[in-house]
Amino acid sequence: MLTAKEIRESFKRFFESKGHVIVPSAPMVIKDDPTLMFTNAGMNQFKDIILGNHPAKNKRVADSQKCLRVSGKHNDLEEVGHDTYHHTMFEMLGNWSFGDYFKKEAISWAWEYLVDVLKIDPANLYATVFEGSPEEGLERDNEAAGYWEQFLPKDHILNGNKHDNFWEMGDTGPCGPCSEIHIDLRPAEERAKVPGRDLVNHDHPQVIEIWNLVFMQYNRKADGSLEPLPARVIDTGMGFERLCMALQGKTSNYDTDVFQPIIRVIASMAGTVYGKDPQTDVAMRVIADHIRTIAFSITDGQLPSNAKAGYVIRRILRRAVRYGYTFLGQKQAFMYRLLPILIETMGDAYPELQAQQTLIEKVIKEEEEAFLRTLETGIRLLDKTMEDAKASGKKEISGVDAFTLYDTFGFPLDLTELILRENGLTVNTEEFDVEMQKQKQRARNAAAVETGDWVVLKEGETEFVGYDYTEYETSILRYRQVKQKNQTLYQIVLDKTPFYAESGGQVGDTGVLVNEFETIEIIDTKKENNLPIHLAKRLPEHLDAPMMACVDTDKRAACAANHSCTHLLDEALRQVLGTHVEQKGSLVTPDGLRFDFSHFQKVTPEQLREVEHLVNAKIRENIPLTEYRNLPIEKAKELGAIALFGEKYGDEVRVVQFGSSIEFCGGTHVSATGKIGMVKILSESSVAAGVRRIEAITGAKVEEMMDTIEDTLNELRQLFNNAPDLKVAIRKYIEENAGLKKQMEAFMKEKEALVKSKLIGNAKDVHGVKVIKAVLPMPADSVKNIAFQLKGEFPTNLFVAIGSTDNGKPMLTVAVSEDLVATGINAGKLVREAAKLIQGGGGGQAHFATAGGKNVDGLSAAVDKLIELAGF
Ligand code: ALA
Repeated sequence: MLTAKEIRESFKRFFESKGHVIVPSAPMVIKDDPTLMFTNAGMNQFKDIILGNHPAKNKRVADSQKCLRVSGKHNDLEEVGHDTYHHTMFEMLGNWSFGDYFKKEAISWAWEYLVDVLKIDPANLYATVFEGSPEEGLERDNEAAGYWEQFLPKDHILNGNKHDNFWEMGDTGPCGPCSEIHIDLRPAEERAKVPGRDLVNHDHPQVIEIWNLVFMQYNRKADGSLEPLPARVIDTGMGFERLCMALQGKTSNYDTDVFQPIIRVIASMAGTVYGKDPQTDVAMRVIADHIRTIAFSITDGQLPSNAKAGYVIRRILRRAVRYGYTFLGQKQAFMYRLLPILIETMGDAYPELQAQQTLIEKVIKEEEEAFLRTLETGIRLLDKTMEDAKASGKKEISGVDAFTLYDTFGFPLDLTELILRENGLTVNTEEFDVEMQKQKQRARNAAAVETGDWVVLKEGETEFVGYDYTEYETSILRYRQVKQKNQTLYQIVLDKTPFYAESGGQVGDTGVLVNEFETIEIIDTKKENNLPIHLAKRLPEHLDAPMMACVDTDKRAACAANHSCTHLLDEALRQVLGTHVEQKGSLVTPDGLRFDFSHFQKVTPEQLREVEHLVNAKIRENIPLTEYRNLPIEKAKELGAIALFGEKYGDEVRVVQFGSSIEFCGGTHVSATGKIGMVKILSESSVAAGVRRIEAITGAKVEEMMDTIEDTLNELRQLFNNAPDLKVAIRKYIEENAGLKKQMEAFMKEKEALVKSKLIGNAKDVHGVKVIKAVLPMPADSVKNIAFQLKGEFPTNLFVAIGSTDNGKPMLTVAVSEDLVATGINAGKLVREAAKLIQGGGGGQAHFATAGGKNVDGLSAAVDKLIELAGF
């Protein structure tokens, strides 16, 4: 029996033998495509080539790609765990032809691989072909059907509709008809009863699609129309885990050696076995699936957070924790303990897991612990909701409540339903769906960008000239309109551009496009895939006239200084803290820099200062920039250049060197470190478990800060009469102040005693009750002291009503002896009522209460009111 590892290898070797170049998997987390958060298909990394924006270096490639289908058009999350063949993260084996071979070879090689190499029984295979779509003007794919007929009997070739057999990457982008290969894994006797063809595409767990051959021919435009691609493309995707299941004679992906080792560890943690109870099995599948997604996302640099991709990862983690908590009795963080087994099963193919083990474990553990605390609150909320429902005789809880539990506390609906069922209750799922739709709509509205189609003026590719120039003559290749949040902008693609597009943490350039007719302001430059896109509020009137593209050079120079300084900082941190320091995020703007890196404790002030000194020394050394462009990646590694994990690098890279600091980098830099001027670290903080953040400024910004500090110091000196030693003067002042405070307190005590005896002297006796009434200019604390002392001295038959003012604020205080409380006098109630006269409110207990207010003039009347209400 082939192991998972052998299967992955055999696929690659087969397509290598057919002239394909094997390429590495792209990162699973996508960093520079606003239309996609995660890689959801093998073809994502080739989108530009398929659309014709970039030439293909190799016309035939194949790979195994880490994919994640948890958001957007392809989203399998809710299925995962409940069936045996869906996953969040999975590996997709794929082969591509960019304008080279087409349907004939794609079909016959797929057949050869499955039947001749892997020895799958052809009697169990089915192929589907696109049936056509009259409204799109597309015919049935007779060509593909014809090729299949060479291998399969007619009754194993089925028609499929647009949903199943016309593959689209998203709402727009490359698409085309596809042929899927399905396999029937049922035992012979079942196959004899119901033919497999009746079960294809019917969600049968053992009659499943394993390979999708897409014949990319079109680009779906924003208006919904189809435009032919410049060249026809083959894009195939085979579910690796499903293939393993078929070849290992299993009926579930989770029974293969991809998942079983992980499941065994989960089962032993829970003191159970897999395959005993359907409910615990679901939980184990969920956890085994989700731990892969979470761990791989973290290695790709995507930590759980409360926004965008990070939030998707956080929800997946919470889903797993929730299943573990409810069905496997995991009341404490447990997921992080699965890392060793995950590394054992996948570490060979993906060494990044081992390399980042400590970080992954820390992050997961902290997330789990934080969520478990929320979970307890959620459970209490659900208990209360159930109690309320029962108390009011209801059998159903509202979908809104279930949605709150889902959204805020991470309770999947199926779990809420289960808990409710155990208590004889149900949930209004229609209402829940409505809430879910509303939330999706909110998310869509927030992100809604209406993008028009490109208007192409000239064919061609953009050449970036910004490493050498900040001004360059150019012309517009194409443009389009985008609308977001009621703002209309234009995206402009130039044939040559000195504008740096936001990437690698460095913000995009701004500047102008200018010629004799007009000046167009460029407000930002971003990348879409690899294409630099210039954003402008309006288009030039003379669209085909040449223009000068001029970058705002002040801003660029400040960015360059901050970017180069980031490299020096990275090196100094490794020197001071250790080589475990790895970049986890970076932001370079004209105003400063922010650098996130892995490190497990707070960086001490001494260490920070050492880092700062090291960087400043390098700045003073004025080390010149050495830049390597188009360096073969192997050469770059030989140089010892630091690469970023989770970043997609081509075969040739750019390397930026300042002496011993050598990094893979596409950013713009200073020509020598002296131009940075100086660095000043402003703060050091934690952003996530095991990840620290440093914020710093350079050059003119440091100068500005020094000026501010100097001004503040000068002002302080003046305040202290130009004392020769400011520190001594301030210390003396603080000590004097403390002494005065003590004296003041002693005076107050004396005064309180005096006032108290006066109050006792003026007290009235009303039917044996000592009634004390006064209006005093005194702080609240003193009044309270006096009231309590009175209560101590006269434990029975005492009623005190004092109005006081402190700094112009009126206050009522009422104290009542316990025996009078017993007769029904309630200080809290009295004070609330009387406070109306001072336009205020308050309360307290029956024996003591206070209220503050706004209207000093009403104070005396309020005190009278208290006496009146109490009946004295
Ligand atoms: N792009 C195709 C898919 O993801 C192969 O199914």
